[in-house]
Amino acid sequence: MTAIKLTDVRKSFGRTEIIRGVNLSIPKGERHAIIGPNGAGKTTLFNLISGRFPITSGSIEVNGRSTAGLAPQEINRLGLSRSFQITSIFPRMTVFENIRCGLLWARGYRYSFWHLLGGQKGLNEEAEALLERLNLAGRRNLLAGLLSYAEQRALEIGITIAGGADIILLDEPTAGMSHSETDYAVDLIRRVSEGKTLLMVEHDMGVVFGLADRITVLVYGEVIASDVPTAIRGNAAVREAYLGTEAA
Ligand SMILES: Nc1ncnc2c1ncn2[C@@H]1O[C@H](COP(=O)(O)OP(=O)(O)OP(=O)(O)O)[C@@H](O)[C@H]1O
Ligand SMILES: [Mg+2]
Repeated sequence: MTAIKLTDVRKSFGRTEIIRGVNLSIPKGERHAIIGPNGAGKTTLFNLISGRFPITSGSIEVNGRSTAGLAPQEINRLGLSRSFQITSIFPRMTVFENIRCGLLWARGYRYSFWHLLGGQKGLNEEAEALLERLNLAGRRNLLAGLLSYAEQRALEIGITIAGGADIILLDEPTAGMSHSETDYAVDLIRRVSEGKTLLMVEHDMGVVFGLADRITVLVYGEVIASDVPTAIRGNAAVREAYLGTEAA
C-alpha cells in the first residue's frame, strides 16, 4: 500500500515553474528523505502534498485517495500531518497546554476549544503520555517559549504527531541544532515515527543517512535520483549536483 504518490506533479508561481514533473511513490512505513540545494523546491513539495497550495497539474494521492480540491485539514484527516520549517509552537502557553492544543486541534476543535477545557480527562491522559514519549514530562508546566531550542523542536514534533496521523512530514527538523541536540532529535524522530510513514526534508547528511530508508534528490524542481542511501551515496550525478561538497 502506498502512503504518498505523486504523478507528474507540476507547480508554477506566476510564470516560473518551480516543481517540474515530479513522480514519487512512498510505501507505507518507509522513512523517506528529500534532499537538494536551497531553492530546489523541497518545502514547496511539502506545501503541495499537505494542500497548502494547489498543484498546477499532475496528481497527488495520500493513503490511496486523491487530494485534488482538498483543503489542508481535509488532507490531514486522510492521515497526514506536517511540521513547518519555522518553529510553530505557542510560546506563552505551557508545554502541557501546547500538546493538549495539538490533540484538540487534531480532533477538529481548532481555536474554539476553551469552552471545553476541564471535561477532557482522556485528553489529559493522552497529553501526559505524549509528553513522556517526547522526554518533556519534566517540563510540562514551563512556558513553551522558555524551552531550549531543541526541546521546542521536540515539542513541535509532538504537536505534529498528536493527532495520530500515520504519515508525518517534517521540514528540516534538526535545522540550527548542535551535534548533541541533533543526536537527541534523531533518536526522538526514530521513536515517534516507528510504524508510520516519515517524509522529511533535511540538510544534515548525517541525519539523512542515519534515518532514511530511501532518499530522493530534488534539483531545480526535478527528481534526479530516488534510491536507497548507499546507491545515492554512489550516484555520480547526485555527487556532482549536491553531495560533492557535503559528503566528501
Ligand atoms: N509562495 C511562493 N510564491 C512564489 N515563489 C515561491 C513561493 N514559495 C516558494 N517559491 C519559490 O520556489 C522556489 C523553491 O522554494 P522552496 O522554499 O520550495 O525551496 P527549498 O528547496 O525548500 O529551499 P530551502 O532548502 O532553502 O528551504 C524558490 O525559488 C522560491 O523563491
Ligand atoms: Mg525549504
